[in-house]
Amino acid sequence: MILLKRGRGMERLLITGAAGGMGRLVRPRLAGLARILRLSDVTELEAGPGEEFVACDLADGAAVRELVAGCNGVVHLGGISVEGPFDPIREANITGVYNLYEAVRANPCRVLFASSNHVVGYYRQDQRLKGYEPTLPDSLYGVSKVFGEQMALLYWQKFGIETARVRIGSCEDEPSDVRRLATWLSPDDFARLVERVFAVPRLGCPVVWGVSQTSTGWWDNSDAGYLGWEPQDSVEPFRNRFEAPHDPDDPLVKWQGGAFIREPIYK
Ligand SMILES: NC(=O)c1ccc[n+]([C@@H]2O[C@H](COP(=O)([O-])OP(=O)(O)OC[C@H]3O[C@@H](n4cnc5c(N)ncnc54)[C@H](O)[C@@H]3O)[C@@H](O)[C@H]2O)c1
Repeated sequence: MILLKRGRGMERLLITGAAGGMGRLVRPRLAGLARILRLSDVTELEAGPGEEFVACDLADGAAVRELVAGCNGVVHLGGISVEGPFDPIREANITGVYNLYEAVRANPCRVLFASSNHVVGYYRQDQRLKGYEPTLPDSLYGVSKVFGEQMALLYWQKFGIETARVRIGSCEDEPSDVRRLATWLSPDDFARLVERVFAVPRLGCPVVWGVSQTSTGWWDNSDAGYLGWEPQDSVEPFRNRFEAPHDPDDPLVKWQGGAFIREPIYK
């Protein structure tokens, strides 16, 4: 596991959604990036040394403003991370992201926005993407992430707030199915990306594909090359573990969004 060294002068780095899957994975890795990691979630968690916990519902604008005050950077992982009924998605991923950017406007600092590959889920797996193509979300969740990416752009254009819009593939310890041989992002590579996002002198508002090394990937990160982020981990050692489904119309091997293509619109 990579343990990052202290960043340039960061006193307090906020991680929203810290109780979630990625939050748990990155907390120890990011510990050295700031003197204090401010962890936040609606779910309680126990803060360790060098950490503080602030409970906050992203849908509560005043609370989010207090949460962000005094922070030098935000890794925004909080929100609904799968497809489901619209109301919780709206509260966490739409109202929540609006609240976050208003809070960052009051307390200007850089943001890493955890966007998703599901903003382009309706591209086929034989298509190659740079990041500037029209979005083709595969779910209400994917649409909410498009909204988040656009909020980031709006606050960049209007107020100069810098955001890395990271379209995360699949962040887990090891790739767990055949599709993830193209989408896997190792926790260490994600931590390295966080370090670069807060270290580069000029960030702007790029789209970054959050994916580790893969010989069968769909995404080209060359436009974000100036970040100096080079994924170090590779899916190749895992490639023989999975067999592709024989049906070429199986969403796992047809669409970039994989199983999300089969999701209904939930009531
Ligand atoms: N894990 C992946 O592979 C992956 C892939 C693409 C995108 N992402 C994005 O990265 C982020 C982190 O993913 P994850 O897998 O850790 O998700 P997760 O669901 O495990 O964690 C999300 C956290 O957000 C919190 N949360 C939900 N609603 C909230 C609200 N209204 N206010 C405050 N907190 C709230 C949850 O309690 C949870 O702890 C998410 O935004 C997700 O959409 C993750």
